[in-house]
Amino acid sequence: MNQHLVIQAVVAGALTFSTALFAADPAAGKAAWNAEHAQTDGSPARSCVTCHGQNLTQAGRHVKTGKAIEPMAPSVNAQRLTDSEKIEKWLLRNCKWTIGRECDANEKADFISYIKTQ
Ligand code: HEC
Repeated sequence: MNQHLVIQAVVAGALTFSTALFAADPAAGKAAWNAEHAQTDGSPARSCVTCHGQNLTQAGRHVKTGKAIEPMAPSVNAQRLTDSEKIEKWLLRNCKWTIGRECDANEKADFISYIKTQ
């Protein structure tokens, strides 16, 4: 199964984490969410928390534009994790900006499984 189909299946709940080709681990996703990535250009370290905050049930704030970002937790925001195209688009952009590279399928599954539990 290619990466996109795996993400779609995990989002849809069609693929249980135990039968996925990789282990989607909410604890690993949480650790990765909070992990700080030092920047080589002297700008402040970045993490997912930088824009989304540590508490996913609360709104975040875009560090560059200052715009509010609706809570990420599906428990308080029913729009979250419903659109796999949107998830792919933002994970690509956010992994590049935060970590400095794309996330692999495993890391994406960990992030999604963590967000799902919030
Ligand atoms: C520079 C600010 C910024 C950072 C840092 C950031 N994000 Fe985001 N993220 C956004 C914005 C803006 C959106 C789209 C607006 C929205 O959906 O409210 C978004 C959307 C998302 C979505 C789509 C959720 C959905 O279903 O609607 C996911 C998943 C996501 N981010 C994960 C992450 C992860 C994982 C990290 C850390 C690797 C991260 N983000 C870091 C700004 C950021």
